[in-house]
Amino acid sequence: MQGEIMWTLIFALVSLTAATVTANNSDSSNYYGQTKAADLKEEKVTHLRFYLHDIISGKNPSAVRIAHANLTGGSADSAVGFGSLFAMDDPLTVGPGKDSKVIGNGRGMYVSGSKDISKFTIVMYADLAFTTGKFNGSSISVFSRNPVAEEAGEREVGIVGGRGAFRMARGFIQIKTHHIDMNTGDAVLRYHATVFHY
Ligand SMILES: *[C@@H]1O[C@H](CO)[C@@H](O)[C@H](O)[C@H]1NC(C)=O
Ligand SMILES: *[C@@H]1O[C@H](CO)[C@@H](O)[C@H](O)[C@H]1NC(C)=O
Ligand SMILES: *[C@@H]1O[C@H](CO)[C@@H](O)[C@H](O)[C@H]1NC(C)=O
Repeated sequence: MQGEIMWTLIFALVSLTAATVTANNSDSSNYYGQTKAADLKEEKVTHLRFYLHDIISGKNPSAVRIAHANLTGGSADSAVGFGSLFAMDDPLTVGPGKDSKVIGNGRGMYVSGSKDISKFTIVMYADLAFTTGKFNGSSISVFSRNPVAEEAGEREVGIVGGRGAFRMARGFIQIKTHHIDMNTGDAVLRYHATVFHY
């Protein structure tokens, strides 16, 4: 009799444990949790307008070439030659002026990605972060071709994500060159971002 009760108890315990494991897959033996319907809030759109200063020249550049291809011929030393890779920490400002209020920074890399120099294109892998105002601490992630020379007026890069208020963002940025120094390559770009986020 006692043995029967014991076996019933053990059986009950094993069943209970099995049921718990099935119902609760956040236990440490699995690397995945439950898949369920995402409870997303309504998507919102925010427009951001600012200027990005990409300064290559001088003693305090905001973008530096960190690698380049060993090309034969005249273009080997060209700052924008195919295969040149730059690291950037470019200030973002409200206005185009050098002394305009800084509202963030664009950090990351860009690579000169077109073999045809007449179609000078960079590919950007950058995080544009805001350090003031409503979006202080938030950033947008750019992972995109930036066809600098291919489009006469405005060109466009894609937004593939973000942090903070822009978590899971997507969208695009229309870029217009405000000023470029053809000798040094220093440029001030006007960025108009359309950001869809939650
Ligand atoms: C799921 O299992 C984990 C780890 O064993 C435990 O901490 C958690 O409380 C369980 N959750 C539920 C809903 O049973
Ligand atoms: C660069 O390319 C040239 C021509 O192919 C070669 O002679 C030279 O060794 C290369 N330099 C380096 C550092 O790879
Ligand atoms: C932005 O956020 C940081 C970190 O929370 C804080 O230290 C800083 O004072 C904020 N700056 C402004 C201008 O609000």
